[in-house]
Amino acid sequence: MSQAVCITTPIYYVNDRPHIGHAYTTTICDVWSRAERLMGRDVFFLTGTDEHGSKVEKSAAARGISPQALADENAAEFQRALATFGISNSDFIRTTQARHETQVQEQLRRLVKSGSVYLGTFEGWYDEGQEEYHTETRARELSYLSPISGKPLTRATEQNYYFKLSAFADRLAKHFADHPTFVRPSERANEMLGRLRDGLQDVPITRTNFSWGIAMPDAPGHVVYVWIDALFNYITALELGSADPARPDRSRYWPATYHIVGKEILWFHAVIWPALLMALELPLPKCVYAHSFWIADGQKMSKSLGNFVDLATIDRYFAQFGLDAWRWYMATQGPIAATDADFNAKHFHEIYTADLVNTVGNCPSRVGAMIGKYFDGRLPADSTAGQPAHDGAIGSHSWDSLCATTVREWESRMDAFDLQGAARIAIDLLRRVDAFINETAPFKLAKDPANAVQLASILNQCAQTVRVAGVLLEPFMPSKMAALAGAFGGQASSGAPWVVRVKYGTIAAGHPIEKLALFPRVDPATCVPAG
Ligand code: MSP
Repeated sequence: MSQAVCITTPIYYVNDRPHIGHAYTTTICDVWSRAERLMGRDVFFLTGTDEHGSKVEKSAAARGISPQALADENAAEFQRALATFGISNSDFIRTTQARHETQVQEQLRRLVKSGSVYLGTFEGWYDEGQEEYHTETRARELSYLSPISGKPLTRATEQNYYFKLSAFADRLAKHFADHPTFVRPSERANEMLGRLRDGLQDVPITRTNFSWGIAMPDAPGHVVYVWIDALFNYITALELGSADPARPDRSRYWPATYHIVGKEILWFHAVIWPALLMALELPLPKCVYAHSFWIADGQKMSKSLGNFVDLATIDRYFAQFGLDAWRWYMATQGPIAATDADFNAKHFHEIYTADLVNTVGNCPSRVGAMIGKYFDGRLPADSTAGQPAHDGAIGSHSWDSLCATTVREWESRMDAFDLQGAARIAIDLLRRVDAFINETAPFKLAKDPANAVQLASILNQCAQTVRVAGVLLEPFMPSKMAALAGAFGGQASSGAPWVVRVKYGTIAAGHPIEKLALFPRVDPATCVPAG
């Protein structure tokens, strides 16, 4: 039985249209899922939409439609967007689905039974846009303004059901201490620890001031707070709280390997969610990874500035550079670490040209062209068993061992969600092939028939290595790399087990090698303007 792994995106609010933020989180999860599947793992990749709450209720009222109609419309738009981004999710959960609602109610009954929920009165600083309460200390830090919308926080009082978050402070602190990579990157873990040290207050988990939500069981008038409702999606999709005998068995996917979230929603995922799971006696996710933000031309993206990279802009990038180039840029240049990343058209073009046109496109095209010219498009034999004719480009390695080492390194980077590292390793392999070609100069050797054996070996080694690099790049650029696998095929081109696919030397001598042009040059003058 292959190892089960699970990755999740946040579930997206349906009162927003899809934009680069959603595209980013979902794409990096997709790259990881494809990589893990390629390595033979049993992957569950979850995304979906967060459809309850007063914001949705209000937006729907403003349009004169029901909240459900608004949710249906926008959930469909998110699903269409996933298809255009080439996303391979295993499920799409919507919080208005019956499977979710009944299980949330079941989990709430369990929480009440466990003694970690009580009825109390709450007064606090409320961020209406985020549907989030802040403590006095935090509100003061924020100058009583929403960190997201900049609008004033309002003072609000409610009789609510509370979750005894305070009771979990010590266990949470211990979990952080015992699992240094529970929250990543480490800057974010330190931030959470700092806030944990400030102390934890119990959190209201129901509301009475709106009705568009899941009813709190046995508590008329109380609706489950949208964040609590939403967090449960990670386990309702896996049917962990389901009593339905016909449910699919997905329990092997819990605990999640990675919850990938944006930094502004980390508190919910790194503190509140784990405490809820502790109260329910369920295992905690292995890692909550909080990425930073895309900014545009040095400025924060916001609706009021009108500089959000929206679907229409993303479509223009697809038209000009192709979906795979977009995915490559997201996965390799994005705000995965603790700092924000700038999105701009010029940088996009530079990366496209350096990585894709000049390396991932050019290297196979060079190799294919030479095999075409000197060997009629058939792979010539290597009489040196992978030993390079010249040791400059790869030191004392054989290509065979260099590929094997690269593959192992790539596997561990991928498992650790170091997508940028994995991408660099794969592209470096192609850069080595390029350097090897420059050093050995097959085009010069070809001038003298006495060099035929050496020339054949060099080109064979180049082609074998290009094929392996193409497999390592496949999760990032599935369709272009499928074309590469087709052109440099061999028996291990697709569908074969991972160890076979990444094994050096599997293209048989005599196999046809096609010359292909993967990434056309794009004139910078015609580039998509940012925003
Ligand atoms: N519904 C909640 C999540 C509930 S999860 C149980 C939510 N939804 S959201 O639609 O507002 O945000 C979704 C994600 O988009 C967040 O992870 C957020 O960080 C991400 N992004 C929004 N703007 C972004 C950028 N400018 N850059 C990168 N990602 C950002 O929050």
